[in-house]
Amino acid sequence: MTDIHFNKEKGSQLKLFTPGPVHVPERVLKEMAKPNDTHRSKPYSEMHQMAAEGLQKLLYTNNECLIFTSSATGIMEACVRNLIKDDEKALFFSIGAFGDRWYEIGVRNGKISVKQGVEWGKAITPEVAQEALSKDKYSVVLIQTNETSTGVYNPIDELAPIIKDSGALMCVDATSSMAGVKLEVDKSDIDICLASVQKCFALPPGLAVCSVSDAAIEKAEQVKNRGLYFDLIALKKRHVAKHQTPTTPPIPQIRGLTAQLEYILNEEGLEKRFERHEKLGKRTRTWVQENNLEMFPEKGYESNTVSTIKNSLDLDIPKMVSMLLDKGYRIVNGYGQLVNKTFRIGHMGEIQLKDLEEMLNDLTDIINELK
Ligand SMILES: Cc1ncc(COP(=O)(O)O)c(C=O)c1O
Repeated sequence: MTDIHFNKEKGSQLKLFTPGPVHVPERVLKEMAKPNDTHRSKPYSEMHQMAAEGLQKLLYTNNECLIFTSSATGIMEACVRNLIKDDEKALFFSIGAFGDRWYEIGVRNGKISVKQGVEWGKAITPEVAQEALSKDKYSVVLIQTNETSTGVYNPIDELAPIIKDSGALMCVDATSSMAGVKLEVDKSDIDICLASVQKCFALPPGLAVCSVSDAAIEKAEQVKNRGLYFDLIALKKRHVAKHQTPTTPPIPQIRGLTAQLEYILNEEGLEKRFERHEKLGKRTRTWVQENNLEMFPEKGYESNTVSTIKNSLDLDIPKMVSMLLDKGYRIVNGYGQLVNKTFRIGHMGEIQLKDLEEMLNDLTDIINELK
């Protein structure tokens, strides 16, 4: 087979401090390499059921959890197509590039889409939410937990009651925080909570997952032109009846998801996993201070899974990224309009504090050389 290395010298030893895709542990890769039965077989259904039940525990919900053969953007589009009728308005809160993307999906699907943004680096506060919701009647509200471009975490627990009091359905994109930050779906009454698995789950890309409330399904039943591939009714029906998907899923990936959920829930433990991510976030922020850098997000709203750092030392960021790559680590430049104005360190998935310290030591040396 062609010998493909992502890093010529270090090969697969390259350590990813990226906001996804992230490093996948060897034990998951081994699990994925096991032989499989078909997606209509009993062993498959058993595996699928285990994964779905694991997701329910992860999200503190009794809502059904569905598995999609797509990345998170697929479920973002599914929310738009399944929940918004043509004559209804939907409100998209946006604090960065991925909020803007969700709004764009609404527009491109011909839905009446309203965007409520804030200056990048800031969060949606309860005041902003109250005001936006008081302006009009919205049937669906869509919002990110963690905005991966700005590194801001929205105070979702405070926003949820405000959004739900307005009578709207609430869709939450938790792509870069699910399995790294606690999110209690039933407590916050979230109708759809979605993510792809190449971030805090530490799995290879290719799957996305979500919880779906009964209210969301009841709404979808009234919405025309839901399409076929992302039709929530069909997906839920097959899931409930057989623990399967309507079309052929990537079976090895689902095996990987099942194994990783078992690890997260039964070996590491949810609370410990959330605490670890909190420590990784805090340590990165302290390092930022120690190096006379500044965080991009407004204080108090910084993400614990990805740190977006202002280029306050006017560093050559592509050069810094490349020098760190030579040491075997990948961090990333800013996203979209924040390229070269910020850089980002992902600290999600299976990264341990010791790994982070090692990378930060090398990065400190590089920064001192570049200053
Ligand atoms: C917050 C957020 N939403 C959505 C997406 C899109 O995810 P995907 O590439 O899995 O479709 C990303 C990707 O980075 C993200 O960070």
